[in-house]
Amino acid sequence: MNDAAPNAAPQTFYLKDYKPFGYEVESVKLTFQLSPNATKVHSAIRFTPKADAEDNRFFLHGEQLSLISAKIDGSPVTARLVDGGLECDVPRTSFLWEAEVEIDPAANTALEGLYMSNGMYCTQCEAEGFRKITYYPDRPDVMSTFTVRIEGDEPVMLSNGNPTGAGEGWAEWHDPWPKPAYLFALVAGDLVNHPGSFTTKSGKDVELNIWVRPGDEGKCAFGMEALKKSMKWDEDVYGLEYDLDLFNIVAVDDFNMGAMENKGLNIFNSSCVLASPETSTDANFERIEAIIAHEYFHNWTGNRITCRDWFQLCLKEGLTVFRDAQFTADMRSEPVKRIEDVIALRARQFPEDGGPLAHPPRPEEFQEINNFYTATVYEKGAEVIGMLKRLVGDDNYYKALNLYFERHDGQACTIEDWLKVFEDATGRDLSQFKLWYSQAGTPRVKVTEDYADGTYTLTFEQSTPPTPGQPEKAPRVIPMAVGLLSPNGDEVRGTQVLELTEAKQSFTFDGLASKPVPSILREFSAPVILERETTNSERAFLLAHDTDPFNRWEAGNALAKEVRVAMVLDGAAPDAAYLDALEKLVRDDEQDPAFRALVLSPPSQSDIAQTLHERGHTPDPQKIYDAAETFTQTLAQQLETSLPRLYAATTVEGPYVPDADGAGKRALNGRILSLLTRLDGGEQAARQYASADNMTQQYAALAALMKAEKGEAQSKAFFEQWQDDRLVMDKWFALQIACAAPETAAATAKELTQHPLFSMKNPNRFRAVMGALAGNHAGFHHASGAGYQLLAENLIALDSVNPQTTARMCAAFQTWKRYDSKRQAQIQAELERILATSDLSRDTHEMVSRMLSA
Ligand code: BES
Ligand code: ZN
Repeated sequence: MNDAAPNAAPQTFYLKDYKPFGYEVESVKLTFQLSPNATKVHSAIRFTPKADAEDNRFFLHGEQLSLISAKIDGSPVTARLVDGGLECDVPRTSFLWEAEVEIDPAANTALEGLYMSNGMYCTQCEAEGFRKITYYPDRPDVMSTFTVRIEGDEPVMLSNGNPTGAGEGWAEWHDPWPKPAYLFALVAGDLVNHPGSFTTKSGKDVELNIWVRPGDEGKCAFGMEALKKSMKWDEDVYGLEYDLDLFNIVAVDDFNMGAMENKGLNIFNSSCVLASPETSTDANFERIEAIIAHEYFHNWTGNRITCRDWFQLCLKEGLTVFRDAQFTADMRSEPVKRIEDVIALRARQFPEDGGPLAHPPRPEEFQEINNFYTATVYEKGAEVIGMLKRLVGDDNYYKALNLYFERHDGQACTIEDWLKVFEDATGRDLSQFKLWYSQAGTPRVKVTEDYADGTYTLTFEQSTPPTPGQPEKAPRVIPMAVGLLSPNGDEVRGTQVLELTEAKQSFTFDGLASKPVPSILREFSAPVILERETTNSERAFLLAHDTDPFNRWEAGNALAKEVRVAMVLDGAAPDAAYLDALEKLVRDDEQDPAFRALVLSPPSQSDIAQTLHERGHTPDPQKIYDAAETFTQTLAQQLETSLPRLYAATTVEGPYVPDADGAGKRALNGRILSLLTRLDGGEQAARQYASADNMTQQYAALAALMKAEKGEAQSKAFFEQWQDDRLVMDKWFALQIACAAPETAAATAKELTQHPLFSMKNPNRFRAVMGALAGNHAGFHHASGAGYQLLAENLIALDSVNPQTTARMCAAFQTWKRYDSKRQAQIQAELERILATSDLSRDTHEMVSRMLSA
């Protein structure tokens, strides 16, 4: 054991310190003798010193390992155990390193390295988990081929690549593709498979499997179809084919993240792959399809071309998120996907970028890399690629991507390599564009306009507020997609991409018959905050007439925010013109139901808080909650006479199909049911609950009833029906807290932590409860401070069990500086309490310190 004491001065790693490893790893052979508390891992690794190495130090990472023996070329050697690994004197020529270590998978509740979940062995090695399996240069630029032998009495024993042999008590695997250790995987247990197959465009047959615990076989069909669609899509759109004869997916109940792209052996949180109409909602189906695609797409963007170091994480994650968004847009609805992504970006990335945890998509330093799998690296990383594609055009984008795969296949790359292929493919200088990778913070773009004699001028001024470590920012390249409408609603100028490069810049449009109405930032062409003085009637005009569906939604969303902000600040009544516009839209059967559902979904309370904060007000969570309630109640009353008809008209008949079309209709129907439930005492919702044959409708009915405090009987029935289904139980836990009134949310959550089915060891269950608490804006921020206190207590308790999940959930406090001084003092006290905990993990330590120091 050689872990640094967690409270010792934490080590910081810097991008600028990168140095290549001094040895080539020619091949890796691993033998596992599985045993829950004492698994032995034997490694045989051939190293060759690099002739041109600047640094010959032979250092192998290792954590929580018991070293049994080490040999070089067959002779025992003495390794020096040092902080985070070992050092050894080694020959100047190629040599075989062998080590035997013992590890304790059953005691591994951090779920990193080799661990056990429901009696099943599994691994999670990204980012730095392989060092908990054996001593190794655990860094992504060290790539090698792996041969794995697993010895044990588990019925199914899997690893990366292709099976090369198996017998009673053993199985052997070989992965011919050189890979970094973070893509290593091993799974062993009592598993059953849902098989499938795919023939690649060059005619190769690939065997596909989804492996699950017995009893879950019936929940694999949808995931299998999603996998086949992903394989086909990547061939059609990017020309990328799968490169092994076998592709395995395994579902695991205890998993920190959503899923992991291990070569040929993807491991999934069971919530992200298992699906059935009875147990999964439309939202679950959509997410499963996207995440299967995401992990599959990593086979090229991540695995065949990987990252030089973890500072380059967005090279694979930003690109793969961008690709999975393209896939979802193609499989479902392009505008709906874009709107959903922008809602998520504003809910998760903008607060990060505007608070103490702000960092650039390519960070320059970290203490714990697990803390940088963030909305900024992922979602902003994907937005940056979207901007690049818009700037160079579609043809150039695919030309650059082809060059990327051709030039860098088999390599561990950097953002510089990535931008260079775009420069070489297009002849464009991307040095200013590169600022998107190094500057944190969300740019504000202020827009003013001018019209005279047929000439319309738009003037843009960009600025980015200071972020930790970056007081000043240089102007960036911002693609602004703009169209112009005439006052009668015709589009007089189609979408044009204006390229902002200066701090202040104007663009003119000539030959206009009258002053146009601008539609700015169409499709949300850049991740910026637009500031423009406009009127609610102009917003209503765009909501009705814009040809860009994203901006139609955006106009409605901006209008909704204005109305709610006015209600909060001035106690205004809900704006009648806006209610009329909504009513018109809900009843307009020409409009896509999914789109109508989105327009009918109010901006979140946290979003209103953020907006108030941006405008220099201190948000009062209770007032925001009250305004939301009043608004929804007024809307329900306004629609009263049409609600029953609308409900009937949007009810989807026939067998449940989890496609985009049905999902859109059910989303609208669910919105209408929730409004109706405010007026009919829950009659319709109770009927829907009783007759639902799918989770989407059952859950929508239960949520509507619980929100109206009329769901007690149904909540009990739901528990009785689903208590043996872990994933459905997560919904039951979360929903009670999500629906609780502000003053009861913390108490409800606290009670649920006492429930026999609550567990600190299962991240999904912990997140269901504590994530729902943090997501209940007025409840979490209730003036009593009970929400803050409960979360802090539970984070402290979780930290010694699972640091990674604890640290991620600490981010619930990141917006603390938005609120009044009393709440700030309460949160600060909780953060300090967490920081003062003895033996706090380095993960949580880093997160809490960053939040306190900014
Ligand atoms: N490589 C990640 C999984 C991962 C993240 C491993 C952090 C270790 C630490 C995987 O490709 C991923 O990004 N998964 C996402 C879902 C995806 C759809 C964005 C996840 O797990 O949330
Ligand atoms: Zn990923």
